Amino acid sequence: MVSRARVAILISGRGSNMAALIYAARADDCPYEVALVTGDKPDAPGLALAEAEGIDILRLDANKSGANYWNELQNALDKAGIETIALAGFMRIIPTDFVARWAGRMINIHPSLLPDHRGLKTHQSVLAAGDRVTGATVHLVSEAVDSGAILGQVAVAVLPGDTADTLATRVLIAEHQLYPRILSAFVTRERDPDWIVATVGGHALQLPETRFKTSHGAPGWKVGSPSNDKFFAIMWLRHHGEESVALLVKCGGQDEMAALIEADPSFYFRPAYYGPSDWIGLRLDRPVVDWDHVAEWLQRSWQACAPPRLTKLLRAADEF
Ligand code: GRF
Repeated sequence: MVSRARVAILISGRGSNMAALIYAARADDCPYEVALVTGDKPDAPGLALAEAEGIDILRLDANKSGANYWNELQNALDKAGIETIALAGFMRIIPTDFVARWAGRMINIHPSLLPDHRGLKTHQSVLAAGDRVTGATVHLVSEAVDSGAILGQVAVAVLPGDTADTLATRVLIAEHQLYPRILSAFVTRERDPDWIVATVGGHALQLPETRFKTSHGAPGWKVGSPSNDKFFAIMWLRHHGEESVALLVKCGGQDEMAALIEADPSFYFRPAYYGPSDWIGLRLDRPVVDWDHVAEWLQRSWQACAPPRLTKLLRAADEF
């Protein structure tokens, strides 16, 4: 198998979801590894369990560290080369700058079928509402609590006579099944060529007068009128001796290309098949892709290929 995604789990308590994630990661084909378990309470019982299982742990104390806690946490995540954060019973409100920094790379599990019953005392709230079905949700973490995009859910029946405790116990069994499965799907999707092509397409088609076309069988995007259009972006799907799933865009020429490749050879490459053209390759099947940067490249390439009547419009809008 290729490298596994490096995941950090953040906990505040017993860590039963953490344990489910750790044990699922022992399967040979699990696409993630638990590279760090930490949290906000140095004596959280789950930390002792993770330590006993041979996982790197860090006993941070948010109450003692105060405002510096989030820097300490970020440093630990950087040092461990973490790509994805899984919150599992992490009971601290996360500041917006930390959420922004991990946007699209931090997920959480909540014991209800979101958007129903956000926040605390979930099971009481389900029983008070008289719901016949509840469940668990794994979602992306966004600024508002329990409101990010839903990645996966599982339903659990509410039984007559259920109390908040009996319900919590049953929902927890469902959580333990759901979380490893959704985390696995989540860390794999960003390396899946279909997902990468769809994401590039989402950005490319936002630019004026663009359309999807294939170029020698590879997905690509053109700009201009249908009778006079040009490719400004072409996918490179592991062909011609270059193993990457990558995007080809137009750069400023051979000198710039050489300088970029020298500065960041893990991201940029020269697509040999295209000869000495201005197409440069951007590798996209990497653990962390800066999609804003890719979008900037698409815009630049669009500008290099679009007819003057379109680029003039864009320049006018920029100056406005
Ligand atoms: C779980 O019910 C989870 O959904 C919620 O907090 C609880 C944590 O339990 N976010 P555990 O520490 O994973 O056992």
